[in-house]
Amino acid sequence: MSTPAWVAIKELEKYIGESVSIIGNVSKLRQQKKISFIELTNGNTVQIVAEAGIIPPKITLESTVKVIGTVSLLPKGAHSKLPVELQAQEIEVLSLADESYSSICPPEAGPAVRLSERHFYFRDKRFVLITKSRAQLLRAIREYYAEIGYTEITPPSFTGTECEGGATLFKVEHPGKSMDKPMTAYLTQSSQFALEMVLPGVGDCYCIAPSFRAEHSHTRRHLTEFTHVEHETGYVMSFEQHLEILKNLIEGIIRHFLLIASDTLTKLGVLERVQELYEMTKDILILTHSEAIKKCRELGIKQDNGEDFGDRDDIPETQERQLIETINKIVFLTEFPKEFKSFYMAPCVNDPSLVQGCDVEFPGIGEVIGSGVREANYESLRERLKENGLKEEDYKEYLDLRKFGFRFTSGMGLGLDRLLTCLLGENTIRCVTTFPRFPGYIRP
Ligand code: 4AD
Repeated sequence: MSTPAWVAIKELEKYIGESVSIIGNVSKLRQQKKISFIELTNGNTVQIVAEAGIIPPKITLESTVKVIGTVSLLPKGAHSKLPVELQAQEIEVLSLADESYSSICPPEAGPAVRLSERHFYFRDKRFVLITKSRAQLLRAIREYYAEIGYTEITPPSFTGTECEGGATLFKVEHPGKSMDKPMTAYLTQSSQFALEMVLPGVGDCYCIAPSFRAEHSHTRRHLTEFTHVEHETGYVMSFEQHLEILKNLIEGIIRHFLLIASDTLTKLGVLERVQELYEMTKDILILTHSEAIKKCRELGIKQDNGEDFGDRDDIPETQERQLIETINKIVFLTEFPKEFKSFYMAPCVNDPSLVQGCDVEFPGIGEVIGSGVREANYESLRERLKENGLKEEDYKEYLDLRKFGFRFTSGMGLGLDRLLTCLLGENTIRCVTTFPRFPGYIRP
């Protein structure tokens, strides 16, 4: 007898009464004396009904199995994901899974197991939904940028300069022109400069690329490699205009996400949560750094040493999150003292000791976006480089942007992993990142 045609599980309904071949993996197994039931999954799931003699002597969860059988309607009162099942005539195990599978990665496993056995955990139903929602968030972002006419750029991960500088830079050896003279390269912390450089020709642009930070932070929201969504906009002539761009961005991304991902979000049980966050994008609180300091004092939020914050102190992560939690709104923190922000931020018009920066804070996770208007003046930028102990020659191309017709840009960087953690209401960034990288963890 010739082998019946291969049919995809989702197509089975079209073959009622016919004999077909299907392939998939065993996701449930109920073996009884006379009759056994196998749930076979391959994108979709179907129930296989097999009499005793048909079941192979060795069959385990996750094994890859070929089944030849007749498609029949589900009996009345039976429940399954499809309205049909398969009456098996022949079952062949093509790849036998080790029977230790269910004990290695039980569905109730804690976070440590979920990390050490990540390659199995990828098969967990909830994790699959999270991974799909991540793909849908990426699509939502691309659709928003298509809507506003920005061009996607693919920047490099290796850079020859330190970009933002600082202690969190990964240094790597890059092949030089000759074998004996390797070059020093850095893994990029941000693709901002790449975007700034292509903007004069291409116009408003964005990228979705990995950024690397050698931070020794074991927190719920830090990774050493994260997915960074960044954009740069030309001819931004005021700080208010920059804030308007940010407002539209978060509203637009979540709007597209809700359209694309509603089914996945429903299955994850977080559709309402994302809808509430979407509503929050219409009622954002703008708080200057100095107002935030005052609020901390009013609320009794103190520095780590127990003292009140001084006017020009940076508010660390924990206290910042506490503040946003209390406010329970999306907050734009703005106008920071220049000493704790990057050298490229433009000074505020009314007080040049402050910069036109804006961090976007979401309840539950804290900072999701870092952004600002860029310094436009060639001489001031040189001055800021010097103040920050950075070498002018390393920033030649960056300085040239101010020397040859500056486009008055502003831009932002959004941590995709942080945004997704917040949208899905997950406890840590590690739950939503397919291959998280953080201190002490680089495998798998
Ligand atoms: O505030 P940051 O450092 O801004 C920049 O890198 C700018 N150059 C971006 C720009 O203007 N083009 O980082 C931006 C965002 C943060 O708000 C945060 O969401 C995310 O990147 N981020 C991290 N996410 C996970 N793990 C880390 N270690 C992160 N560091 C920053």
